Amino acid sequence: MVIAGAVIASGSSDLRHGIDLLDTAVLNKGTAFTDEERTRFGLHALLPPHVETLDEQVARAYEAFQKKDNDLERHIYLRALQDTNEVLFYRLLLDRIEEMTPLVYTPTVALACEQFSHIYRRPRGLFVSYPLRDSIPHLLRNRPNKDADVIVVTDGERILGIGDQGAGGLGIPIGKLSLYTLIGGIRPERTLPIVLDVGTNNPERLNDPEYLGWRHERITGQAYFDFVHQFVQAVKQELPQTCLQWEDFATPHARPILTRYRDELLTFNDDIQGTASVALGAVLGAVKVTGKNLKEQQIVMFGAGSAGIGVADGLRAAMTGDGLSEQEALSQFWVIDRDGLLHSGRKDLRPEQAVYAQPESRVAEWPRTSNGHIGLADMIGQIKATVLIGLSTVGGAFSEPIVREMARKVERPIIFPLSNPTSKSEAKAEDLIHWTDGRALVASGSPFAPVNYQGRKIPIAQCNNVFIFPAMGLAVVASGARRVTEPMMLAAARTLGANSPAIKDPSASLLPRLTDIRRVAAEIAFAVGVQAQKEGVAPKISEDELRRRVHETQWAPAYLNFSK
Ligand code: NAI
Repeated sequence: MVIAGAVIASGSSDLRHGIDLLDTAVLNKGTAFTDEERTRFGLHALLPPHVETLDEQVARAYEAFQKKDNDLERHIYLRALQDTNEVLFYRLLLDRIEEMTPLVYTPTVALACEQFSHIYRRPRGLFVSYPLRDSIPHLLRNRPNKDADVIVVTDGERILGIGDQGAGGLGIPIGKLSLYTLIGGIRPERTLPIVLDVGTNNPERLNDPEYLGWRHERITGQAYFDFVHQFVQAVKQELPQTCLQWEDFATPHARPILTRYRDELLTFNDDIQGTASVALGAVLGAVKVTGKNLKEQQIVMFGAGSAGIGVADGLRAAMTGDGLSEQEALSQFWVIDRDGLLHSGRKDLRPEQAVYAQPESRVAEWPRTSNGHIGLADMIGQIKATVLIGLSTVGGAFSEPIVREMARKVERPIIFPLSNPTSKSEAKAEDLIHWTDGRALVASGSPFAPVNYQGRKIPIAQCNNVFIFPAMGLAVVASGARRVTEPMMLAAARTLGANSPAIKDPSASLLPRLTDIRRVAAEIAFAVGVQAQKEGVAPKISEDELRRRVHETQWAPAYLNFSK
């Protein structure tokens, strides 16, 4: 649609008017429509006579928001505002980004997914359901806006920590795309949330008379992968330039899907690649604070599941990028799963784990006090570990003796208990700071309050993917990239690490504050764009031009003047 010179892609070329205009969230200014605009678009009498500024609207919206008495109600209020007036919604979010982000995304969005059918109000995004599998291109053509820069798609099976939510999983793409807009500046009308509704195995959803999804057990096996394939082919056909981000798929599906399609279209999986990139960024920041190099680090990875191996892969790529050979880098990784240290004598390792197996001869004489295996305490006693990362789901695994032993040998131990939720965190941030006499550099998976230690207030960085994915969206749109490659993810992590506030101020957090995140996202997008050009997956343009495009692409919420 075209309004006063502003082109809004919507598939129609009509000029919205009257109540239609007020019902179009991306154009609606509500009480901020000027007198001239009210005359031009037939809005007089539809609106109260007083014309407000955006600032006044924000103040009024915040007042209404404050009257809500729980987080789910606050989320519902914000979603309703988003469906009414997108500029006002994003301005409110931007003005109070630290307060609002947890309400539109994690943790509150988990509640919104569970309650999806009960709080459903208006359509947003697409439900691509299995019974309609033969007409997916037609379903995509029903999208509200013709063009899309980013799709976030889930099948609702592994939603955050709350498992299978079926069609209610759509809450995640909706929330996540709000952050693509808020932080990455992807235009709101160019985002498209999608749920692949292949049923649910969650009895609570299936037995809920109000459940709005396809009431059927999950489609599995080849039929599932065929359905995903039909969907990908439809996206390639209908939206070939759009970045397709996979979200909250169960582990047995996530990796095969990424592997199959990563070289076929512009796509990435945030749970796998974004997690690795943000953790790597935090490690790189911490290493800089210690004044050492990544190449020198002895890394202990506690947990060898999809997250642990993903983070190890990212760290290894950074180490080889810094000049170590594959073999040298691998010799500095000590990876542990529930059966102890990964070593070449073990026959139970998956291929991606076997890469990290230490030669059995290297550890033959080590104690095995963990049910006959080499456990974390055994390991920490034997090596001078500098980095300890937990992605194991084992709450409290980083015990006081283990942490003290590590800190005895290292001036600034880097310790990241990354498992979620808080009950599964390998250690409490406060304990880590106290057990190391304030020397540990800590980032966590779950939020922890700043720790008071000897008159210092030490903020704890939360390794949240929000530091990466919106920037990645901005990067691919601004640079015109056709693929998301591992070196691009690495470039993102390096730029995040270089922006660690702790480098300049030893008592600051390892990761930027949310209030600074748009600036950091633009820097990341630039670095990723440069890398995309190096690899030949984005058109060659000058650095100045790339910077200009990043700046221009990063949309900020402000009203357009429709009077002219
Ligand atoms: P997963 O189930 O694939 O892997 C868990 C790993 O921990 C397995 O290798 C398992 O053998 C190991 N493990 C379990 N018990 C153990 C024990 N007693 N000792 C040693 N190792 C043990 O799970 P996934 O997806 O890798 O996630 C792991 C954790 O990481 C979860 O809590 C998840 O919430 C968290 N996570 C955090 C992220 C963040 O950014 N903060 C991002 C992604 C995951």
